[in-house]
This record gives sequence, C-alpha cells and structure tokens, in this order.
Amino acid sequence: MRVRDTKIVAALPELGVELKPGTSFSELTSLGIGGTTDLLRITKHDAIPELLNLLDAQGVPYKFLGGGSNLLVGDGELPWLVLQLVSPDPDIVLEGRFAQVHAAADLGRTVTFCAKHDLGGMEGLIGVPGTVGGALRMNAGAYGMQIGSYVRQVKLYRAAARKLETLEGDQISFEYRHTSFAPDDMMLAVKLELPSKPYREILKGIRICNEKRRASQPLGQKSAGCIFKNPPGASAGRMIDELGLKGLNVGDARVSDRHANFFVNAGKASAKDMLTLIADVRERVQKSFGVILDHEVVVWNA
Ligand code: EPU
Repeated sequence: MRVRDTKIVAALPELGVELKPGTSFSELTSLGIGGTTDLLRITKHDAIPELLNLLDAQGVPYKFLGGGSNLLVGDGELPWLVLQLVSPDPDIVLEGRFAQVHAAADLGRTVTFCAKHDLGGMEGLIGVPGTVGGALRMNAGAYGMQIGSYVRQVKLYRAAARKLETLEGDQISFEYRHTSFAPDDMMLAVKLELPSKPYREILKGIRICNEKRRASQPLGQKSAGCIFKNPPGASAGRMIDELGLKGLNVGDARVSDRHANFFVNAGKASAKDMLTLIADVRERVQKSFGVILDHEVVVWNA
C-alpha cells in the first residue's frame, strides 16, 4: 500500500515520522520473506495517538512491526502500511535493579548491557533475535526462563482506547508464548526488575546458552525461530524429526536439517512456499500423532 493522501504525507514530518516508500519485508524480517508496502518509522511516542487518528480518519489500514524475527508476511503488494518504532539513544536506562528499556531496543544487546551492570536473569534470551517489545508481546523465553517474570511496568499504545497507557506488571498475564495484550496494542517501553549477579557469573550462563543454541539451532540461516509452539508435555521439533521430515521442502522453504521446528528460507522462498510447507508438516503431525500444532510464528498473510 502506498501513502498517497496528501494530508497524511504533509503531517508526517511534524509528527516525527519518516516515510520509507515501497519497503520489502524480505529486508524487514529474519525469514527474508514477504511483499512490499510503505513503512512509517516513528521517533516520538507522544505523536502516536495523533498519527493513528489521522490514519484511521483516512481509512488507512496499518500493522505494528517489532524486530521482524518471528514473522511470516504474505507475498506481493500488501494492503496495509507498516509502522515501526525507532530506537532512541540511549534506549536502556538503569536505576538500581530496574532497567527502563525502549520497545525498539535490541533484545540481545539489552541482555548484555544489563549483564555488564551486574543484572542477570535474562541469560536464556541471549541469541533470541528481535526487539524487547516483540519479546514482551509474546513472552519470549528459552532455557527455563521467560521475559514476563521480570516485567514490572509497560508503557503501551492501546488502540482500543486510542491512548497511551501504563500498565503495572500484575495487570498483565504472561503464559507460555502468550500475553494478555490485545493484538493491536503497541509496546512502547518496559521496566524490568532484574536480580543482582556478578557479571562473570552471568557471562558463564550466557556462554552455556549460546553453546546449547549453536549446537541445536540453525543460527546462520534465515528463519523465524520455532514455527510451532510445543504442545503441553511434548516437543514439536522432536515429533517432526521422528517423522523424518528434516530437509522436506517446498521450493526454497525447507525444514532445517539441524532443528526440525525451524523452517528456513534457503534462497528465494515465497510466503506461499513457506505456508504450504507449514500446512503439510502440520497435517502429517496430526495424522501420525493426533496432535494439532499451533503456530508460534506470527503470520500476516495479505
Ligand atoms: N529434538 C529432536 N529433533 C529436533 C529438535 C529437537 O529430537 O530436530 C528434541 C531435542 O533433542 C530435545 C527436545 O526435542 O530432547 C526439545 O528440543 P530443544 O531443547 O531444542 O527445545 P525445543 O522445545 O524444540 C524450545 C523453544 C525454543 C528455545 C528452546 C531452548 C518453543 C516452541 N521452542 O525449543 O524457542 O530456544 O526451547 O529453550 O517453545 C522459539 O521460540 O522460536 C524458539 C526457538
């Protein structure tokens, strides 16, 4: 979708919004898949309600993008704009054991920045690509921890109420790869409370997680992490592996040889290729194990 409305185009600079016309999701996502639309890069939180009121008034549909690392977007010209926050400098401010982090801050950098200031707890998240806002929205976790455990306050834009709000940690529920945020809530900033730990000890934990990840996941390849959630008490990756599906492909969309719940873009995979592969694997797992796998990856199909 192209921003053609002159009223919108004229208002953008004052709202601190940069327009990047015709941006491809092959550049915006870690899977390297997806069609094209205009990207609006937002630098000022306070301008968000006005921007969105303007888009709504002109009937322009839009979606909020985080780091694009857990996202599969449809092919071709997309029927909505995409909005993304720009990270300010600094994007992390520490106060004792609290870290105030901008939603657009890189997750891995946040983990190491806090570690260097003797704040731990998030070692498992090292190596998880994406932004803090994206991790927060879906309660990212690994190696026995999840980000939700450390969340004390969240600043967000609530599309339903059309305003900026601050929620306390106990007003939000965090479950396995799921939170109580509405789908159109836009994460803006989070306050984390982290346990004090000496840097050297945190570093040991980080190294262990990095090694485990390197040994079991296809880190150098284009992927969106795990495609399916683990069903209660089982592992999606193990089930897919047991069916001998590693290496199964539709075009350049391929089940990783290293971890069967990672589907990689081995070249020029289209969203259609990837969605066909996902549906095929899902059906085979259902037939053999009687288990219906839920997507872990977020799908924005046009
Ligand atoms: N397994 C296989 N074959 C495979 C993959 C896994 O047999 O191809 C077996 C492993 O040997 C292990 C079990 O399945 O016994 C579980 O595998 P793993 O430890 O790799 O963890 P996972 O359950 O597949 C989850 C998260 C990952 C996270 C890791 C580490 C989900 C859907 N996945 O994977 O998160 O990094 O644990 O904590 O919850 C993600 O969310 O995108 C993601 C990658």
